[in-house]
Amino acid sequence: MTRIQVKPNPPHRFSVAPMMEWTDRHCRFFHRLLTRRALLYTEMVTTGAVLHGKRKDLIGFDPFEHPLALQLGGSDPGALAACAQIGAETGYDEINLNVGCPSDRVQEGRFGACLMAEPALVGECVAAMKAAVKVPVTVKCRIGIDEQDPEEALAIFADSVARAGADQLIVHARKAWLKGLSPRENRDVPPLDYGRVYRLKAAYPDLPVVINGGIASLEAAASHLDHVDGVMMGRAAYQEPWRLLEVDPLLFGEPAPFASPADAAVALIPHIERELAHGVRLAAITRHILGLFRGVPGARAFRRHLATHAVKPGAGAEVLVAALALVGGRMHEPDIAAA
Ligand SMILES: Cc1cc2nc3c(=O)[nH]c(=O)nc-3n(C[C@H](O)[C@H](O)[C@H](O)COP(=O)(O)O)c2cc1C
Repeated sequence: MTRIQVKPNPPHRFSVAPMMEWTDRHCRFFHRLLTRRALLYTEMVTTGAVLHGKRKDLIGFDPFEHPLALQLGGSDPGALAACAQIGAETGYDEINLNVGCPSDRVQEGRFGACLMAEPALVGECVAAMKAAVKVPVTVKCRIGIDEQDPEEALAIFADSVARAGADQLIVHARKAWLKGLSPRENRDVPPLDYGRVYRLKAAYPDLPVVINGGIASLEAAASHLDHVDGVMMGRAAYQEPWRLLEVDPLLFGEPAPFASPADAAVALIPHIERELAHGVRLAAITRHILGLFRGVPGARAFRRHLATHAVKPGAGAEVLVAALALVGGRMHEPDIAAA
């Protein structure tokens, strides 16, 4: 008799957001040491770069990083389908389309957040990607752009991508203003509207909806899960990665991979040694762990030691060992009292 195994907690229940310059392969390797279950995303890679760039450098990854999603930027259905196929063949577990980035460079290429105004085209893109791969195809969007009414604009957008077969919608719960705000301001200035995302989920019970934007703790993440299928955390996960150590116990009911952030940092050493042997500089890896002890005694000394010494030519894992010796005292209080 065949037994169907239903996984009660799919990977999208908690994910770390795609972040340019931040979520590179070293960052993801480190995040994976902190949580076995979170879904990790690459930085956005444009279709042009995937098709014509140094592919191994751009989309290569370590199998340890699974489950892992590739985020693509583009608006040409054929190019997106080709890149989705390349991503799936490379081994990614999900292909995601960026409809949230507001930068000028991206607007000139007619992709990112400006596609919120072109739901039919995004539908064509999703349909083409779906036809090219078996892995889930997902879309990350905003609740609207510029003068759009999020109530109407997000409904039309979601309808188009759902009909095209999107497997999931990740919604950054604020508008993007394409003129007048920098990408950075566009992550803080437009007000958050979580209610709009909850209403979207209520309207699409069968479409997994993941909420993103301003989620600063796992306690907040857990409360969103009463309304939506998943939570995506960006800056809080990157700037204070110790939070990720609580993801598996608190959101997946599984033990944390390590007892403490320091243990996870020690476990990074074999990766560091492998990468240094291939010519990678220590700082390229340790820059992602500077916030690991934020808020506990010694955190500043840890950060300063790494920032000063990891950039020096020939710096090796001993710099991390010395930095770890500077951290002492109590560790962080858990976000939620024992799960
Ligand atoms: C440094 C940085 C780079 C980002 N790059 C991307 C990107 O490549 N693709 C994308 O969809 N969003 C990108 N974002 C937006 C995040 O994925 C996320 O939507 C946003 O930061 C809001 O979530 P948060 O408040 O949890 O950080 C970036 C954000 C930051 C801070």
